[in-house]
Amino acid sequence: MAKIPSQNELDAATKVIALSHQFAADIIGLPVVTPLLTWQTESSRSDAKQIAYEISSLDDQGKITASKVVESSDSIEIKADGHISGPRERRELRVRIATQYGWTEHSPTVVFETGLGSGTEFVGESIGDNSLHSDPVPILRKTFVTSKTVKKARLYSTSEGLHSIYINAMPVTDEFFTPGWTAFDNRLTYHTYDVTSLIQEGKNCIGAALGDGWTRGKFGFTNIYDNYGTKIHLLAQLEISYTDGSKEVVATDKSWKISTAELRFADIYDGCTIDQNHGQPGWQSAEFDDAHWSQVTVHSLDKKRIHERTSTRVLKVAEFPSRIIDSKNRTLLDFGQNISGWVRLTVDGKKGDEITVRHAEILEPGPNLHTAALRTAKATDRYILASDGRHVLEPRFTFHGFQYAEVTGNAQFISAIGVAVSSANQRIGHFSSSDARLNRLHENVVWSIADNMVSVPTDCPQRDERLGWTGDAQVISFTSNTLYKLDSFWRSWLTDLWLDQEKFGEVGAVVPDILSRQPNVVNDWIITNRAGWADAATIVPIASYESYGSLESLRQQLPSIRKYIQSLSDHRKGEKFLPEEFQFGDWCDPDAPGDQPWLSKVKPQFVANAFFANSAQLAADIEKLVGETSYQTKFQELANTLKRDIWAQFGREAKETTAGCSMVLEFGIVPESERANVAKILSEMVIKDEGKITTGFLGTPLILHALSKNGHFKAAYTMLMRRKVRSWLYQVDNKATTIWERWDAIREDGSIHRGEMSMAEEDKPDDGSESPSMISFNHYAYGAVIDWVYRNVAGIAPNMSAPGYRQITFAPRPAEGFTYASASINTPLGLAAISWKLLGDQSLAADIVVPFGATATIDFPVSGSSHLKLNGLGILNGHQLTHGKYVVTLTEPTIIPFTAAI
Ligand code: BGC
Repeated sequence: MAKIPSQNELDAATKVIALSHQFAADIIGLPVVTPLLTWQTESSRSDAKQIAYEISSLDDQGKITASKVVESSDSIEIKADGHISGPRERRELRVRIATQYGWTEHSPTVVFETGLGSGTEFVGESIGDNSLHSDPVPILRKTFVTSKTVKKARLYSTSEGLHSIYINAMPVTDEFFTPGWTAFDNRLTYHTYDVTSLIQEGKNCIGAALGDGWTRGKFGFTNIYDNYGTKIHLLAQLEISYTDGSKEVVATDKSWKISTAELRFADIYDGCTIDQNHGQPGWQSAEFDDAHWSQVTVHSLDKKRIHERTSTRVLKVAEFPSRIIDSKNRTLLDFGQNISGWVRLTVDGKKGDEITVRHAEILEPGPNLHTAALRTAKATDRYILASDGRHVLEPRFTFHGFQYAEVTGNAQFISAIGVAVSSANQRIGHFSSSDARLNRLHENVVWSIADNMVSVPTDCPQRDERLGWTGDAQVISFTSNTLYKLDSFWRSWLTDLWLDQEKFGEVGAVVPDILSRQPNVVNDWIITNRAGWADAATIVPIASYESYGSLESLRQQLPSIRKYIQSLSDHRKGEKFLPEEFQFGDWCDPDAPGDQPWLSKVKPQFVANAFFANSAQLAADIEKLVGETSYQTKFQELANTLKRDIWAQFGREAKETTAGCSMVLEFGIVPESERANVAKILSEMVIKDEGKITTGFLGTPLILHALSKNGHFKAAYTMLMRRKVRSWLYQVDNKATTIWERWDAIREDGSIHRGEMSMAEEDKPDDGSESPSMISFNHYAYGAVIDWVYRNVAGIAPNMSAPGYRQITFAPRPAEGFTYASASINTPLGLAAISWKLLGDQSLAADIVVPFGATATIDFPVSGSSHLKLNGLGILNGHQLTHGKYVVTLTEPTIIPFTAAI
């Protein structure tokens, strides 16, 4: 490495343009841990290289602490040692780097502010009332007086149930569903807000409203009630520092007052009821007279369960105007996009008018809302007006999955906006091509991910489910990390995966694992440690590692991964294989009986063992990166033995199905000598079926990779671009705006799939109502195809051997009919992009952007007579690039021929 320049040598041509830490940039109150910094640099010098860095920080007093200069070319997850030492510290961290030309200026700063350090630092009591689920929502308040000048004020808050909190009638945050859903038995998170500007001299008021959220009421598979308790309550603490050096704490305790107001009911599935006639205008303000309010009830809360939040916030991510479809006796609205969120409605009405808003993802003939898919979720918001005139109405503590809404009631409809919320609020990946349908498919995946990441990664946002199904999560993890910055979101969820795994012994089918908390609800049906679901324990960490390059996320999961592999191993009870038993299998295989989606063509025992082998391999890989050699050797031997035995026992049957072939190819189960043959069999099956999809949740994300990595691009494109039923584009042709749960959710004759599910006699509803159905228009699982689209259609991919896009592969594989494709990803190191087009002479020209600190490999579709050039000079495939902007041209590129069934 070059010599580190002296401090007064300046490299003005190089700039550190962005700096982040391991948590979402817009949260404070972080755990007391060493910040891990990642920065992005730009340089107009093509040969500049980082050779050293220096991290420094400013504290509240403007005091600067600088770490010593470290010789390193790395800029991902760099430990900022010595800057954070305890709770309630705020540091503005910054970095500057040295290239061989000198030092850069300091980067923009990133704030790292620690929280209380421990839940036991909450000095107050958790307060609420004795209300039940169906009762009006409690509101709480407390006034206090300040006579001094405020220097700094922080509010720390958490709750059983949800809370929204105000100081002097101003909301302290623009986020929703605080404190979110975590593995509540062991981890309830608190949030920290900078409320300095909200405190006023004189009388002040803290007000809060509580909602049931995920804690109590109806929530979960088969409608479990009161999952985590029957009471909701608030624990909060306002800490004020004055300019004279004194401090004051206002904490929740018996002196707070409680009442109810216009929010008469609020439930995540069912919606909310707001009756303005019960309103108590001004209740969040200091001047409000609360003499008629009641004493609060103190509830017990184990403060050791309370930890800092670490995930992203649930924020409003978009607003959609509505189009009126019908206005006879009602207003039927189309928001143009299936979203998670609610309707902000404006009406002109009279006192006493009742307005009802119902929601649905699609319409049935009529047109009417199709609400059958919601199962028991009522998804209905009701409002009763208390005055004449214009009203803007919005629900609280609930969200709906919908594209359509129906407004009924006497008030006159004025306008409606669809408000979309999500934890996936930082978009990083963009794609576009000459195929409008493929672009829409991409957009549908963008939305399915946003809609299904509301605090936890869910299966679907509309029906009475919305659970953190681990299978769905692992399937979408790679794609989700390409489209959004979700490193802290996944890390937080994986923390919960481990906590619940530790508690219940096995990895849940859902995380947070409310199903294991109430084993009877599924009639002792054991669904923990199930293949393809519990494997989220190994797959989600590795997916994060590939995109963000974080070793810390892997390290954090080691105990979980070890326990998972061990428990599967033990479950074999001395036999070679995991036994034959219930598995979700290649869930929703379109050839399985529609009402028994677990009866996939690939047999459960094969799927179980194939995923076991894959997880053992990933575990060995992860041990190699961050673990111990003894584990690595043990897991590698296990993986090798399993792969060999699986091939011997199940190899023949694996070759009979597309999912089977995909699994043995992608999991490295097929011996090298037979790889080409199995890939050929797979390709022939796909071509024979004209690309018709024959795989379910587990096979679909693998199949295009299994084909293309073995040279069968024609089959891969035949499947990707198919438009007849059982294809991604069939959904697009049928006006989908998100990804469906079943390939034929809308059948060819236009009818809506009823999604009936078979049920054991004893599980059938007693009231003679229909057996539950399973049909959603917003399941992200099949959207996993977008990972393939970035890597192959546009041709941009991270590389597991140098993760976090330290090494990027540009490998476009244009197919017939495409005239251009482009993709860009805001990687940890900065923007990486490719944009290729076919020119008039059928040669290919691509603009490529490689971020500072990354290396890129050129792998273009050369044919026998091609000339490949970089900025006009001849190169060969395999050419390595460092940061900069390039033009790559290729004459006579290989264009993949395929025929799409239309
Ligand atoms: C969910 C799926 C989930 C499955 C597993 C369904 O009800 O919506 O996405 O993975 O159950 O059984």
